[in-house]
Amino acid sequence: MKLSKAKHKDTEECYMSNGLRIGVYPGSFDPLTNGHLDIIHRASKLFDKLIVAVLHNDSKQAVFSMEERVELIKKCTGDIENVEVDMFSGLLVNYVKKKQAVAIVKGLRAVSDYEYELQMAMLNKHIDKNVETIFLMADIQNSFLSSSIVKELAKNGGNISGLVPEQIIDDINLTLRKKL
Ligand code: PNS
Repeated sequence: MKLSKAKHKDTEECYMSNGLRIGVYPGSFDPLTNGHLDIIHRASKLFDKLIVAVLHNDSKQAVFSMEERVELIKKCTGDIENVEVDMFSGLLVNYVKKKQAVAIVKGLRAVSDYEYELQMAMLNKHIDKNVETIFLMADIQNSFLSSSIVKELAKNGGNISGLVPEQIIDDINLTLRKKL
């Protein structure tokens, strides 16, 4: 399928797939947390289609396999009609272009996220000026939450209820007990 570009009034162009506005929400999702799921719900209302894209990165040691991470996300997003779960490797910008998406979606929890995310957004825009990044602020109750905290807590026998979607608590605990 040929990449179509939508003309914008002032300057630039953005990628569009047959008039559909597609957003890409990339991440490691090792594993999915309530914070991620909140961003997925909110971002799915802003786009015709939202692709949750799990990064396959050989150099970053993940606890959950690609298949496990994708499965956990699918289990929690099956009820959102316009959400698709996929995997990608390599440059995010190339994946965004391949999917003809109009924007990358990222969640921001605290000021500490800002510097890194700003750098990534700038870098991605430098690689391709048509790739926009939009940020959604994390809900206050998820602002301290991360996949690392969930793993740390579960690994030490803590209760991860309220931090990850209910339907994947057992899967996460089981997998972590097997692997850690
Ligand atoms: O959930 P994370 O680990 O914060 O997600 C980070 C992610 C996947 C968004 C980021 O590492 C990424 O975009 N990786 C793909 C490689 C890439 O395009 N890097 C930027 C240019 S070097």
